[in-house]
Amino acid sequence: MKGKDFVSISDLTRDDLMHILNLALEMKKQGNTSKLSGKTLGMIFEKPSLRTKVSFDVAMYQLGGHAIYLSNEEIGLGKREPISDVARVISRYVDLIMARTFAHGSVADLAKYATVPVINGLSDEEHPCQTVADILTILEKKGKLEGLSVTYIGDGNNVAASLLLACALIGMDFRFASPKGYEIPDRILRRARDISFGSYQIITTQNPKDAVSGADVVYTDVWTSMGQETESEQRRKDLAGFTITSELLAKAKPDAILMHPMPVHHGEEFAEGMIDCAQSVLIDQAENRLHAQKAILVELAKNQ
Ligand code: CP
Repeated sequence: MKGKDFVSISDLTRDDLMHILNLALEMKKQGNTSKLSGKTLGMIFEKPSLRTKVSFDVAMYQLGGHAIYLSNEEIGLGKREPISDVARVISRYVDLIMARTFAHGSVADLAKYATVPVINGLSDEEHPCQTVADILTILEKKGKLEGLSVTYIGDGNNVAASLLLACALIGMDFRFASPKGYEIPDRILRRARDISFGSYQIITTQNPKDAVSGADVVYTDVWTSMGQETESEQRRKDLAGFTITSELLAKAKPDAILMHPMPVHHGEEFAEGMIDCAQSVLIDQAENRLHAQKAILVELAKNQ
């Protein structure tokens, strides 16, 4: 990989991403190995998690290594101690750091001051590990990436940003539908243009039906991300027309897949029962967090 850390999808070249996907497929077949024998991952969490916590912990176990969970109550990132001090000290104990932070600047600062690789396990700007698992799932389900059209419906949040960047990097068309005020930030759109490959194009609209029409992949996420709970009532009102229903999904290609990073808010961004529809790949997508992250961990550990 081009740098020490994995904080943003744009830390990867297209070749890096394709290599990680191939390695993840290989490791999914292999099962347990000793590639990270004797290595320790420090996992810092400022927010709750099911998938990220368990999949990173199990990934280290299956690679012959070990993971340590560090809650923010214990270490007080930036409060009990400056991030620069936490980063430099923890680097003397562990071989890799994974951090889930509120502010993107916190995980970026950890990467700046740590002497070991830092992985972004979700910040307010990006969720790059989720996206690698998402692209792995699309590749498995569709047998290819090039020429596919990915549609994201809803809030232009961290998951949308990382997915857009990956689509740009690979050269997959990205369509995005949100109400006014919920767009993906301009700085992410500019970065996507800078890293885009081939004939990649992005279409943004306020009409979910237009965005879903003829799509190969239909993707959504929660309307209220962690840390935005006080806005949830307003967000439910603003995003009310952007629920994925069977009628909306029927406008996509008949073999389109339906994706969501989970947890799902049933009855909000997903109509009740959509998780169990024939086109839903959510549980396979969640499993792929494990395989994608094993590949990311092995690649970053190589730089040590
Ligand atoms: N998708 C995801 O990151 O899930 P968790 O918040 O449970 O880790």
